[in-house]
Amino acid sequence: MKTLKDAYKNYFTVGAAVSAHWLDEAAETVKTHFNTVTCENEMKYNSVHPHEYKRPDFWKMRHGEKPEPPEVTRRERFVHPSQETDFSGADKIYRFAKENGIAVRGHTLMWHASYPWGIFEQLTPDEIRTNTLEHFDIMRSKYSDCYCWDVVNEAVDDHGGYLRETVFKQKLGDDYLLDIYALARKYFPEAELCCNDYNEYNPQKRESILKLIGRLKERNLVDVIGCQCHINALMGDKEFDEMKRSLGMYADTGLKIHVTEMDVNCVDWKNPDVVVPESELLDRVTKTYSRAFGIFREFQGAIENVTVWGVSDRHSWLNGFKNAEHRKNYPLLFDENYRPKAALQAIIDF
Ligand code: GLA
Repeated sequence: MKTLKDAYKNYFTVGAAVSAHWLDEAAETVKTHFNTVTCENEMKYNSVHPHEYKRPDFWKMRHGEKPEPPEVTRRERFVHPSQETDFSGADKIYRFAKENGIAVRGHTLMWHASYPWGIFEQLTPDEIRTNTLEHFDIMRSKYSDCYCWDVVNEAVDDHGGYLRETVFKQKLGDDYLLDIYALARKYFPEAELCCNDYNEYNPQKRESILKLIGRLKERNLVDVIGCQCHINALMGDKEFDEMKRSLGMYADTGLKIHVTEMDVNCVDWKNPDVVVPESELLDRVTKTYSRAFGIFREFQGAIENVTVWGVSDRHSWLNGFKNAEHRKNYPLLFDENYRPKAALQAIIDF
């Protein structure tokens, strides 16, 4: 069988998100088929600076409901994150990649959802600045060879506004992203800086993404537009057209494009409890991958990397997403036993 990376060698590199706890079982598959890896969680703030605070399940709450902020204990560790670190997961993946000549996409230097919830709200702007400097400095000292960094993950608002209301925006001001990207440029001068977001094919959100990209680009602070590409197996013509139109608009900026977190969710959100035969779901997944990769190939030269968000259906974040535990999902390219799925074959044989 031809490998995925060989099939795409004239188009773009292909990557997979991996996790330290199942890397060993996936290692051979990753080495065979992929040129790049991304740490699924291991380079995020929460993993590198572990703490005991749990993020509330916001999706289970009523609109507007806000939990009480937690009490800050041992505040100094949040101002000086170097006081508490755990690099075991990220080191394992980084070492594996280096030993096998696989490039690493750094993910991610700042993501609002990967900080202890409710704590930074209680820090001063200066304390947050100190935290950021120290955290970026640690990441630079440990993982300087990442060829690209997702700088501020998901910074754009998802409800029609421009920027997402995060604690960083509230405390550091509306232009905080310019400072954060400038810091990333200074600390990672060799790396590509990527602005990564989801729902990137939604016309309204696309407009905000392009606005942000424009502001960063005029200051030479961004190199790559990151399209997460968490898509659904029921995607139809209209959505595929929008995907193509969006990729065209992103390519027109002159920046490179990375498809950063692709997976194909089988859940029909309008009828989540209707049981569909497995063969039908697998077929939808195959067709969706096939069509999406067909579009990616049209952007040869603009798309530099396509990464899938996992390797085997055995380990996908979708298996635990929004009460999904009781539904089977088939979002990736290898089945639960790492056997290649028809979706893989279909994107290899184009
Ligand atoms: C977002 C993040 C990823 C990952 C996925 C799914 O897209 O960027 O790191 O957490 O959600 O879990």
